[in-house]
Amino acid sequence: MKFRAIRVFEEGDGYVKRIVERSTEDLPEGKLLIRVEYSSLNYKDALSCMGNRGVTRSYPHTPGIDAGGVVVTSESDKFRAGDKVVVTGYDLGMNTDGGFGEYIRVPEEWAVKADTIDIRDAMIYGTAGYTAGQLVYEVLMEDLPPEAGEILVSGATGGVGSHAVKILVRLGYDVVAVVNSEAERKMALNMGAVGTINREESVDTTGKALLSQRWASVIDTVGGPFLSTAVRQVKFGGVVATCGNVAGSRIDDLTVYPFILRAVKLKGVASAYSSRRRRSIIWEKLAKEWRSPEFDKNICEVNLEGMMRAVDDMIGDKLLGRVVLKHK
Ligand SMILES: NC(=O)c1ccc[n+]([C@@H]2O[C@H](COP(=O)([O-])OP(=O)(O)OC[C@H]3O[C@@H](n4cnc5c(N)ncnc54)[C@H](OP(=O)(O)O)[C@@H]3O)[C@@H](O)[C@H]2O)c1
Repeated sequence: MKFRAIRVFEEGDGYVKRIVERSTEDLPEGKLLIRVEYSSLNYKDALSCMGNRGVTRSYPHTPGIDAGGVVVTSESDKFRAGDKVVVTGYDLGMNTDGGFGEYIRVPEEWAVKADTIDIRDAMIYGTAGYTAGQLVYEVLMEDLPPEAGEILVSGATGGVGSHAVKILVRLGYDVVAVVNSEAERKMALNMGAVGTINREESVDTTGKALLSQRWASVIDTVGGPFLSTAVRQVKFGGVVATCGNVAGSRIDDLTVYPFILRAVKLKGVASAYSSRRRRSIIWEKLAKEWRSPEFDKNICEVNLEGMMRAVDDMIGDKLLGRVVLKHK
């Protein structure tokens, strides 16, 4: 079967992308052949288009770390032709041809049935929304009622953080957002945060083992000094759920005291490799009780040609809002 895809080629000293015709016979091995209906643009896709070897080792390559579509052929007893599925995480779009092509072939473990969530909605959430869901899930597993106090969210206007804020607000929690400008402060309050603190205020400079107890829990997407501060500042029994490293990968100034004197729980999220059961639970919650009326604001839906331009805009830091790719 012939199909269209964005393909990134290594040429001379650089990387170029083109829309090309491919054949499903050229796709990698896997039990599920899927006709992709929707994908979405993530920063990892832009990195893959730029030749970032930490994301994609060899070229030519088709990016697209998120994909939603319909099973065409299945060699798995868990899926049948016609099943609607969502594929996020694992190696999709990194070293396995991804959702910027009209077809993908993947191992059965990578797919979950889109029984409860609409495929387009799943791609609006994408890896960022799904990761936010995982972070919120880790906090809620500790049975934390909204009355316990405020939840602090770092990177609150970014992809993961903004979804986390919207989900928590939807669930009735008081969210305080870490922001870095007046525009970000307005955006956070528009999303329903009850307050904001500046980036500088979110980072301790004293190095004390324990700080005043301030937050019922913390959702962290940035790591580094923020994460260290959060662990020392969260209230007794609180959870700090973390997923990112944009502010640093070291966690300095931490001792055992927040853990053994305040029963603080530090939980990591690696959404690319969560179990199918966990993925099904999170997608169902995102589709139903966690769905904010605001979740699909500022969506730009594009075709393959539009995605070529959107990637350039993301690389040039000119992109606003979320880009969803609709294949024909
Ligand atoms: N573990 C997982 O499963 C998983 C999954 C997805 C993403 N991630 C990670 O999660 C992190 C966030 O991803 P994203 O998609 O939300 O990224 P994003 O959309 O680029 O958002 C990043 C956010 O962090 C803020 N930020 C940037 N540098 C900062 C610094 N030095 N100190 C404090 N805040 C800073 C940004 O604010 P400004 O816009 O003002 O700079 C923005 O709000 C990344 O590290 C990503 O790799 C992990």
